[in-house]
Amino acid sequence: DASDIEKGTYPHYMLKETDEQPLVLRKIIQKYQNEDGKLVIDQDITDAIDQSDRIYIVACGTSYHAGLVGKQFIEQWAKTPVEVHVASEFSYNMPLLSEKPLFIFISQSGETADSRAVLVQIKELGHKALTITNVPGSTLSREADYTLLLHAGPEIAVASTKAYTAQLAVLAITAAVTAEVKGHELDLDLVKELGIAANAMEALCDQKEEMEYIAREYLSTTRNAFFIGRAVDYYVGLEGALKLKEISYIQAEGFAGGELKHGTIALIEQGTPVIALATQEHVNLSIRGNVKEVAARGANPCIISAKGLDQEDDRFVLPEVHEALSPLASVIPLQLIAYYAALHRGCDVDKPRNLAKSVTVE
Ligand code: G6P
Repeated sequence: DASDIEKGTYPHYMLKETDEQPLVLRKIIQKYQNEDGKLVIDQDITDAIDQSDRIYIVACGTSYHAGLVGKQFIEQWAKTPVEVHVASEFSYNMPLLSEKPLFIFISQSGETADSRAVLVQIKELGHKALTITNVPGSTLSREADYTLLLHAGPEIAVASTKAYTAQLAVLAITAAVTAEVKGHELDLDLVKELGIAANAMEALCDQKEEMEYIAREYLSTTRNAFFIGRAVDYYVGLEGALKLKEISYIQAEGFAGGELKHGTIALIEQGTPVIALATQEHVNLSIRGNVKEVAARGANPCIISAKGLDQEDDRFVLPEVHEALSPLASVIPLQLIAYYAALHRGCDVDKPRNLAKSVTVE
């Protein structure tokens, strides 16, 4: 059938979609550039952000994890405070809103019921919303005031991959363009750095054998696995853990490196895999301290680090990307490790049990 043709020579949609990420990123750069090569988004949107005193990002699952990274971009570059909320919690436990809130809904499908419920609520309160989605004309796009598209092409695998990195890129562009409108100078050339990130992604997608090896070494028989990181690495760790649990059914959790000792470290046993990300210079020493803490208790650490911050025992060193954009690169090994772990364990990678691609019930 048509879906077979679409998968081409790939054994699974997830692998195909993981591989498409550099291409999608290049397409996004192109779609958001004007003739002069400048990044642009609708002025209505930058005005809305400029006029707002606080942004509320609302999303579920992987899109929520992208929102956490997006908060970083918007706060650091555009200097607008951002809160990130899980949609199902927001709608039943609404936080006290600021005077001039702006909502950003992030949703691959644009159909997630939990997110839509919040959109309906905040519209009743008279607030404005921007939807970042992969599906033009989707419910969340139609019902919001503004839309930004991901241009990632259809994502079929239940486990989201290319939509996540597309969401990061669109959030980065939104933050950078808004920063300019607000007169804040950016210390990076985003077009150039996104291009470098796309090349890094491509290099990472070419290292599947290594990822398969890591998956085999750390995850082929384990019952559980932990992902740790600090700052933005923590957010990527959450996504890495979600990928792993979704498709391999290994109990996986992401933790802030510093929080481990306040409870979770009790779960560390001889051989427990702990995948640690070290891509941020200001927390490089402290995350490595956390790795030592778990290793001293028998954990089997797998450090994935940024080039330049790497140390002798690191298991994998990422190709160079701008530190702020490191999630675009660091998530790829995590996606691929999850993929190969699921494959080794005989799981149905594209259609994991109990999950749906798009959840249209609350
Ligand atoms: C489902 C999917 C997840 C996805 C989440 C949000 O639970 O299984 O992969 O992240 O919905 O989907 P959305 O389409 O709103 O991004």
